Amino acid sequence: MKQIEGSKILPAIQLYHWIMNPLGFLEECVQKYGDTFNLNLLGFPPFTIVSHPQANQEIFSVDSRQFDAGRGNGLIRVLVGDNSLFLMDGDRHKRERKLLMPPFHGEKVKSYAQTICDIAAVAASQWQTRQPFKAQKAMQDITLEIILHVVFGLSEGERYQKMKPLIANLLDMVGAPLRASVLFLPILQQDWGAWSPWGQFVRCRQTIYDLLQAEIEERRSQPDSNGNDVLSLMLSARDEDGQPMTDAELKDEMITLLTAGHETTATSLSWAFYWIEKLPKVKEKLLQELDSLPENADPLEVSRLPYLTAVCSETLRIYPVAIIAFPRIARSSVEIMGYHFDTEAMLVPCIYLTHQREDLYPEPKKFRPERFLERQYTPNEFLPFGGGNRRCIGYVLALLKMKLVLATILTKYELTLASDRPVVPRRRGGTIAPHNGVPIILKGKRSRPQPAKTEPIFSQT
Ligand code: HEM
Repeated sequence: MKQIEGSKILPAIQLYHWIMNPLGFLEECVQKYGDTFNLNLLGFPPFTIVSHPQANQEIFSVDSRQFDAGRGNGLIRVLVGDNSLFLMDGDRHKRERKLLMPPFHGEKVKSYAQTICDIAAVAASQWQTRQPFKAQKAMQDITLEIILHVVFGLSEGERYQKMKPLIANLLDMVGAPLRASVLFLPILQQDWGAWSPWGQFVRCRQTIYDLLQAEIEERRSQPDSNGNDVLSLMLSARDEDGQPMTDAELKDEMITLLTAGHETTATSLSWAFYWIEKLPKVKEKLLQELDSLPENADPLEVSRLPYLTAVCSETLRIYPVAIIAFPRIARSSVEIMGYHFDTEAMLVPCIYLTHQREDLYPEPKKFRPERFLERQYTPNEFLPFGGGNRRCIGYVLALLKMKLVLATILTKYELTLASDRPVVPRRRGGTIAPHNGVPIILKGKRSRPQPAKTEPIFSQT
């Protein structure tokens, strides 16, 4: 049986590198030990990082009872509550995923396309010209508005006005690295009043729960007025025994969708703006493709454009927002790629390292969307949304948001980066984000050339 090597430095130092420089640390390990290696971070159980597509495939395709993942996510329980999909395993996870899936199916998601374009257009129309602003913040505002509308069904009214700043505040508390570490250290979870970090967090979360409870009760009392949003669909969902979701489940899952879907999409969009504005050839090709459709083209037609799709894929490849999938914990001993793992062994498919493999992505540090037009990647080679029974349930919505926000803004406005200095990835809570939020400048409105032809000019091979 093959042996797995691992980092020999002190667990405290490994933890330091994992927090301060995760990408550099992972790359150093892969060079020293190969694509399967052990890490031992102080305060965490030891785990094995894998990044070979075959290892990803074997982990993702094995019977879902072989691995648990929910119990490895305990750290975020304080945020998402006990009834979150993130924390579930086994039959409960399977049942809940079934209940949550309908609003995220391709056909349903398509019905949100026009709303996404409208929200992006209104937001961008309020940007000031010639004043640098951070793409990350601007994208957070847009994705928050989209989530409130699409997931909560809120776009106006008193509850919407109250909910918006509360949710922005909650997500900010979780996203800011220092505040987040305070929140997630059990020893610091002390309510010393409304001004202490934990006290603030608990009050904010409770007010959101109260507003959500009121919304749920109102919807239940007027079943006929149910809309197209995720909450309405969750209210009408029934499991195999005909049981609806409980109020506690509904509230925890709403917070789960919010935390899973907001920061991730906003960060991916900021990276996309960075690369497009940084690389004139990419921008030129993309605009040429977008301009090949009429101004009032069906958003779904826009979302199918091959070069736009390739730009989004390359953005998610080069710096995947989630650098690892959820850790998989073996429920019984298992063999993966010829390595033996005992019960309770923790395996972590590394999205970043898979995406950096030279054999799959030649010159992996180069942003080159064309690679996605030249070759079809399997779900074990390109996995920004993880895989198997835990694959991100919001991936269709996330991709649609990325494409339509980019298309709406780039065709209407002239933007430029506020600085030529390279933007580097840095840890932001559980994700990897641009270190400076990508400062950009709005130069003005863009006049759109008349479309030369109605067919997209780049064909997918
Ligand atoms: C660019 C945006 C996004 C990225 C990169 C992303 C990435 C991921 C990844 C890597 C996982 C773990 C998968 C695994 O371990 O195999 C995940 C899980 C999840 N994501 Fe996303 N996600 C994004 C957007 C969204 C959105 C918009 C939603 C919903 C509104 C969402 C909801 C979820 C949920 C509920 C899970 C847990 C699934 C489970 O435990 O079964 N995500 N996501």
